[in-house]
Amino acid sequence: LAALPYIYECDTGLNRYDPRLALIKMDIPITEARNPVTTTIDVASTDDIVQMLHMCDREIFNGWKQYKGLFHPETIATIRQISEVAVDILKKPDGMIVLSGCGTSGRIAFLIARNFNEVLRNSGREQCFRYLIAGRDKALFTSQEAPEDDPQCGIEMLKEVTAGRNRVLFIGITCGLSAPFVAGQLYYCMENLNIYTPVLLGFNPSNLARNIKIEKWDKTFLQVVRLMENKVAENKAYILNPIVGPEQITGSSRMKSGTATKILLETIFVSCVKAYENIPSNIEAHLKSYQDLCEVVYKETSSISKLVQLAGNSLKAGGTISYIGWDSLGVMGMIDASECPPTYGASLSDIRGFVETGYKLLNNIEGDLSPLGKYYRISIDEFQSDIVPGLKESDLVILLMKDESCTVSDILWKSTCQKACISFYSAEKEDRMDCTVSIDLSNLITEPLGNQHYKSWGQLYKELSTKWILNAVTTGAHILKGKVYQNIMVDLKVSNNKLFFRAVGIIQNFSNLPKEMCQEYLLKSIYMTDDLSDDLKSLQVKDHIVKATTMEKVVPTALVAAILKCKIDDARKLLLQHHVIRTAISDIINNRTV
Ligand code: F6P
Repeated sequence: LAALPYIYECDTGLNRYDPRLALIKMDIPITEARNPVTTTIDVASTDDIVQMLHMCDREIFNGWKQYKGLFHPETIATIRQISEVAVDILKKPDGMIVLSGCGTSGRIAFLIARNFNEVLRNSGREQCFRYLIAGRDKALFTSQEAPEDDPQCGIEMLKEVTAGRNRVLFIGITCGLSAPFVAGQLYYCMENLNIYTPVLLGFNPSNLARNIKIEKWDKTFLQVVRLMENKVAENKAYILNPIVGPEQITGSSRMKSGTATKILLETIFVSCVKAYENIPSNIEAHLKSYQDLCEVVYKETSSISKLVQLAGNSLKAGGTISYIGWDSLGVMGMIDASECPPTYGASLSDIRGFVETGYKLLNNIEGDLSPLGKYYRISIDEFQSDIVPGLKESDLVILLMKDESCTVSDILWKSTCQKACISFYSAEKEDRMDCTVSIDLSNLITEPLGNQHYKSWGQLYKELSTKWILNAVTTGAHILKGKVYQNIMVDLKVSNNKLFFRAVGIIQNFSNLPKEMCQEYLLKSIYMTDDLSDDLKSLQVKDHIVKATTMEKVVPTALVAAILKCKIDDARKLLLQHHVIRTAISDIINNRTV
């Protein structure tokens, strides 16, 4: 294993790991680097999988190498400054706080905006939080990656939502400092500093922002960051980018980066709401409470790993996983489920999230999306009518219960499916459950963090606990299903520019061929041909993405063809023989033949 690579080269591909250097090269974005902790996660036991996830999650708080981390004084000072701007906005009648991002970053934006609007509503104030997500509300449940590449679309959506506002705090979230959708918005804010205060939230050092040409635009993300740095010096913009270390599954920023996004935004706005009510707040102590929470959650490693095993069994047997969640815990389930198709090539039915009263509870901009089709039917009632009657023994239903009041109808109990729950109250262990993960927050929430209007800030901790556990469930289950090789998601969907180049990097990493040749193998797999015409080669990356998005096993096929230097059709046939992608790749790499 030591001879195998564990680092990504900036956007072009993975570097070969050189044991003599044993260092992560400086030009690799941390969010795209391989985490040395998880290089053997694909062959680990479920207990070990969860322990590796824990070790990596600890890095969110303990920091990574020499970089500035969450508790660095500079990070805390930036949080405080942004929070002060937010207080100022709350006091203005026409102020607005916009949180924007792509994929999980946009979904976390939605969650935070929803939660803090609720805080404002409960205290009789105007709900001034807005969220933006590339691909709009559909992207809350299903991945819509193409709009992530469009800076103009980002700008138009920002203009639309802030029309008529004179004072806007804009927080653009892009974990990798890479999303063109967010780049456009930040640039637009800088052009209009009389109205906007732009904040860039992400988890790479500024110099490792993406420096690849953005299609249909004249700037790279790095150039936007450089412009921002000038404004930061004038206190007209902020860059909040503590380093939390590489993801457990390489590049899967829904995990640690998503968690850190939630922690940072909550810290900013809890502190803001408290300041608005003249309650003193301690940013460091608030951050520390999440660090304690991480330990509280992973104290349950053995029950979490049991749940991972159940989930893995279901996926391996062709079954499904359904999350049934109450209140915002249902949203956490939906967020977790939505990333499985692009990350692991899962089908939309494999993992689904359902939430209490559906759209009524979500309070999303576009309201009821259920007419769009079955994957947009998200209420518990719809789960009971659409899913429960067809549940089989191989299916798993996980209840995300916020308190004792959560109940499901007896039909579920009569079903032969596997049943599990995550609960936060000290109820007797449900004997009807095949697995219960019970998280005891009583030692953590010693004080109601201030605002009497919000049910309890404790809900934020329940959300994060749920995120950690569900990330473990879907990551672990896909590992058990053989979708991960070492710590790389080899069956990712090639559905945007970043993922296209990530795929080229994966092929380069394992085939050791030059980048251009790896790109050709990827195109051959996308177009299912061994002869790439000049016309095909001259198309833009965005055109390749349109074709690749609808296809299955694009990357594994290209990878096998590149390693064996065989025809695309032969690579496809070899993969078909194997069923499990991990063993196919490992056999091929180890034997160079199948
Ligand atoms: O492009 C897909 C994706 O990788 C999602 O999986 C992820 O949540 C999203 O991009 C956000 O990436 P970033 O926060 O780095 O812009």
